[in-house]
Amino acid sequence: MADRRRVAILISGRGSNMRALIEGAQGYEVALVASNKVHAPGLDVARSLGVPTFAFEAPRDGFEAALERSLTDHRIGTIALAGYMRILSPAFIARWRGRIVNIHPSLLPRHKGLDTHNRVLAAGEAVTGCTVHLVSEELDSGEVLAQAEVPVEPGDDAARLAARVLNAEHALYPAALSEFVRR
Ligand code: GRF
Repeated sequence: MADRRRVAILISGRGSNMRALIEGAQGYEVALVASNKVHAPGLDVARSLGVPTFAFEAPRDGFEAALERSLTDHRIGTIALAGYMRILSPAFIARWRGRIVNIHPSLLPRHKGLDTHNRVLAAGEAVTGCTVHLVSEELDSGEVLAQAEVPVEPGDDAARLAARVLNAEHALYPAALSEFVRR
């Protein structure tokens, strides 16, 4: 039986929020780290922290079918995306409706999609941040669960700003996930 407190983290790369989600787990357990890239660097981090991993490279439908089996085997009830760089299929999202969360490095609904920090700088905004939200069929548009603001500082470039926002993500994501699995 799936248990909403048993969380799978989906990554495509280093999964830079993954360690914070694992080490900051309260009220949930990271029971699986899954990737569509067999060499995703975050997989080694997950293994070193004793978390089971699943990795498989295949076209989307085949990947998602195999992922479903792994999620069932591990009785996963909640999916947390952490730098998962492939759009989930509408069928997958429909089956997991209300049970997939994501973190996005902007104050949604501002700056959906990629390259957020450059767009914040180009717009001359004084404040940016990050958003934890439910995943729906429309990219970066599901219900907002939590947000944290981060000031833009003089002399910021995209890399500096990204690093500051990522720090805020590491605090926000575990807290928002704890609250989400309780609701
Ligand atoms: C973070 O900025 C997060 O907000 C976004 O993906 C970025 C991390 O990617 N969803 P990665 O973990 O470094 O691959």
